[in-house]
Amino acid sequence: MILEKNEAIRSDMVKIFDTTLRDGEQSPGASMTSAEKLEVARALAQLRVDIIEAGFPAASPDDLEAVRRIAIEVGNPKHVEAGQKVPTIAALARANKQDIDKAWEAVREAQKPRIHTFLATSPIHMKYKLRMEPEEVIARVGEMVAYARSLCPDVEFSPEDAGRSDPEFLYIVLGEAIKAGATTLNIPDTVGYTIPSEFYRLIKGIIENTPGMHEGITISVHCHDDLGLATANTLAGILAGARQAEVTINGIGERAGNASLEELVMLLKTRYPVLGLKTDIDTTQIARVSKLVSTYTGIVVQPNKAIVGANAFAHEAGIHQDGMLKHSLTYEIMRPEDVGVRQSRLVLGKHSGRHALRKRLEEMGYALSEAQLDAIFEDFKRLADRKKVITDADLEALVNEERYQVRELYALSSMEVTCGTVGTPTARVQLRTPDGSLQSFTAQGTGPVDATYKAIDAIVNVPCELVEYNVHAVTEGIDAIGEVTVRIRPRNGQKKTILDAQTEEEYTRIYGGHGADTDIVVASAKAYLNALNMMIVSSLEQKTGVSSDYGVIL
Ligand code: KIV
Ligand code: ZN
Repeated sequence: MILEKNEAIRSDMVKIFDTTLRDGEQSPGASMTSAEKLEVARALAQLRVDIIEAGFPAASPDDLEAVRRIAIEVGNPKHVEAGQKVPTIAALARANKQDIDKAWEAVREAQKPRIHTFLATSPIHMKYKLRMEPEEVIARVGEMVAYARSLCPDVEFSPEDAGRSDPEFLYIVLGEAIKAGATTLNIPDTVGYTIPSEFYRLIKGIIENTPGMHEGITISVHCHDDLGLATANTLAGILAGARQAEVTINGIGERAGNASLEELVMLLKTRYPVLGLKTDIDTTQIARVSKLVSTYTGIVVQPNKAIVGANAFAHEAGIHQDGMLKHSLTYEIMRPEDVGVRQSRLVLGKHSGRHALRKRLEEMGYALSEAQLDAIFEDFKRLADRKKVITDADLEALVNEERYQVRELYALSSMEVTCGTVGTPTARVQLRTPDGSLQSFTAQGTGPVDATYKAIDAIVNVPCELVEYNVHAVTEGIDAIGEVTVRIRPRNGQKKTILDAQTEEEYTRIYGGHGADTDIVVASAKAYLNALNMMIVSSLEQKTGVSSDYGVIL
């Protein structure tokens, strides 16, 4: 039986294929600059994922360049630290030669490049989207997988919407892909429609019935979360014999998202005695990477999200707290430290020096340059004047503030706000502009944040629309740092100033911004400026075709 002959299936290792930078970036509003993508890719390599799907190079020259840089700088032993894992770098391509050429151009400099090509196989997609007959689909898959294989030794093929495809038809298409040289067959539940028992049967059927299935083929699963079953379906696929799982950090992705990396990895680790399956992930990096992705994409992690939500290890009910004090195993199935959540409090305070700060940040996994440390130390001292106890969560917020900023074309110099029950909320904002000069504006609004944003708009003069605004406290207590996340989009039809050269695609893009401060109106201003800077930098990257590396010279 093919099932028993397949080498990958006998293995107890499940490969983690991270698609945060591709499917994850397809989440509305999740666009990142190329420098941010590179930073996330580095963090994924430190997390020890096996494959990074770095993007979809045919989508834009910008995306091609971002994938190419990741292939060179993260997928190449020349550039990674000694002893660090070098992941395979994959790029997505539709099943046509132009896309495949672009994907190859983007990944070819990686030590382990992979082309991932796909074509839909469900009746609904073939008829309405592709307008292709099933026979044409079979022929195209054979042709394009062979073409990809003529360029790259590692080719993955996905029959899109496999979850709603006829299994018998899938066996034929996948058999063609194997014949043409595919090395991984990825089975996507593209619209998150299946239930675990169905998905299990689908994967088992594919392994048992696909012609030409052999030891060298890895079966992969890629599940979307439209019905909240992405992780359950991924596990079902693995139990049926899949040995690669396609996942994203925080479960971000198209519509309701993808199966989340942290859920799957901790599920396999926590239930190892029952499942007997492992991954190579360094789970202690999970919290850090989750935070990084949330900061860059502007997509806030819901507090009750499994593994990485703020409440995942919080115990509120009296009975639970009592149990926890007696023994942590009463209500905790995983140790917070195992996912990199540190419980330590009372870490640092007003009298702590630069050395203590560096040491703590290193313990937390941040390798910072001297300049970054200097900047964070300044912020730390300012914060310590306002807040007695600085926790790890506060430090994380400061690091995110300093380290993960897109270049500050416009920076907050000072602001003054009046609000309350008497009079009209008014904000006076002073910004440092790209030419180094200071500009001020005073505006009134419906509240302090509205007034602040109006004043900023008047100075920056790039029309945009606020799509989402979120504020939350990093730690408990009245002196907590407030973290603000915003999402904005260019306001269509008003091409002005430095955004003149925008493409239509750019007008539909949403940009995320993040800011932290003990004053939430200041945090709001920082977040808005962060998003505006991102929008402008990204527009300039598109215009010049040059990746900014946090800096475009105007
Ligand atoms: O969900 C999906 O079908 C995909 C494919 C491109 C693998 O993301
Ligand atoms: Zn997908």
